Order: sequence, then C-alpha cells, then structure tokens
Amino acid sequence: MRRPLNAPIAPAAMPAGVRLIPFDIITARACRDLMNRVYAEGFGDARDFDEWWPWLTTDADYDPALMFVAVKDESIVGFCHCWTGAFIKDVVVDRFSRGHGLGAALVTSALLACRDRGAPFVDLKTDIDNCKAQSLYRRLGFAIVERVG
Ligand SMILES: CC(C)(COP(=O)(O)OP(=O)(O)OC[C@H]1O[C@@H](n2cnc3c(N)ncnc32)[C@H](O)[C@@H]1OP(=O)(O)O)[C@@H](O)C(=O)NCCC(=O)NCCS
Repeated sequence: MRRPLNAPIAPAAMPAGVRLIPFDIITARACRDLMNRVYAEGFGDARDFDEWWPWLTTDADYDPALMFVAVKDESIVGFCHCWTGAFIKDVVVDRFSRGHGLGAALVTSALLACRDRGAPFVDLKTDIDNCKAQSLYRRLGFAIVERVG
C-alpha cells in the first residue's frame, strides 16, 4: 500500500498516558518482545533479538529516529519501524492497548517524519487478510498499489 505525502496529514494524538521514547538497545529488546508476542497472533514472524539487532542496525536504511516506541506506565505498548527509504516495516500495538488510536498515532508519526525528509510517499506491505491493519491504513490515506503472491 502507498500513501502519497503531498496530501494533508491529519494530526493523530497519542492516547491518554502514552508517550514516545527513544529507540536504543534497551528499548529495542522490549520492542522485539512486543513484536514476537503480537506476531504469535498471526500476520508476522517472531525473530530472536540477537539475530534481529545486528540485522537491523547494520542496514543502510536504518535510522533510530524512525523507530517509534510508545510507552505507557513504563511498559512498551506500541512500536513502528520505518526505514529511511520511507517504507514502514513493522507496526504493532499490544492487544490490550488497541482501539484507542495508538496504531494511527504511530503510523502518522512515521508519515510526518518521512514528509519532513522530503519523501514523496510512504509504502508498506500488509497481508491481504489483515483487515484491521488495512482498515487503519486506508483511513490514514494508504491505497493498494500492488498485490503480491
Ligand atoms: C493493526 C494495529 C497496529 C492497529 O492498532 P490500534 O492501536 O488498534 O489502531 P487504532 O486504535 O489507531 O485503530 C484501530 C481501530 O480503533 C478505532 N479507534 C481508534 N481510536 C478510537 C477511540 N478513541 N475510540 C474508539 N475507537 C477508536 C479506529 O476507528 C480503528 O478502527 P478502523 O481502523 O476500522 O477505523 C493492531 O491491531 C495490531 O498490532 N495488529 C497486529 C499486528 C499487525 O497486524 N500489524 C500490522 C502488520 S502490516
């Protein structure tokens, strides 16, 4: 799916009590744990942190400023990984924190950051059966540009 960045981006506030914190090796472990937990529900693959961390941080498209980590009551409840190539690789929200706008706020943070860097659009891939994610992305201005497989 693709979201052109020449169209306006609506503000999307973090839900009450949720704030963004920097991405570093400490928060990264908790983000990977969250992804592994969420992806165990489907729509993603679990990966071992010790394999994921070097893979991530040696990639030319990695920038910690494009890793959006949402925390509430000292627990990481949401995470969005965007590559510098304006490609959203992962978006996950803890199952108990869904439906309050956190997914929208995380994706919107990535859209704004990519727009600030001059990207013309943001891309992502999602499973055709992932109706919740697709609904969120459509609401934020994404449209299907290619079907794979
Ligand atoms: C997809 C996912 C990230 C969405 O996260 P989320 O925090 O629930 O997203 P939002 O709260 O912004 O939006 C979800 C729904 O809640 C509704 N919602 C948002 N804020 C709300 C509020 N304050 N009150 C009531 N409903 C609200 C939205 O309308 C939205 O429904 P819609 O998209 O059908 O319109 C989350 O479901 C998830 O982690 N899924 C598993 C992992 C996954 O599939 N990731 C994407 C891979 S491509």
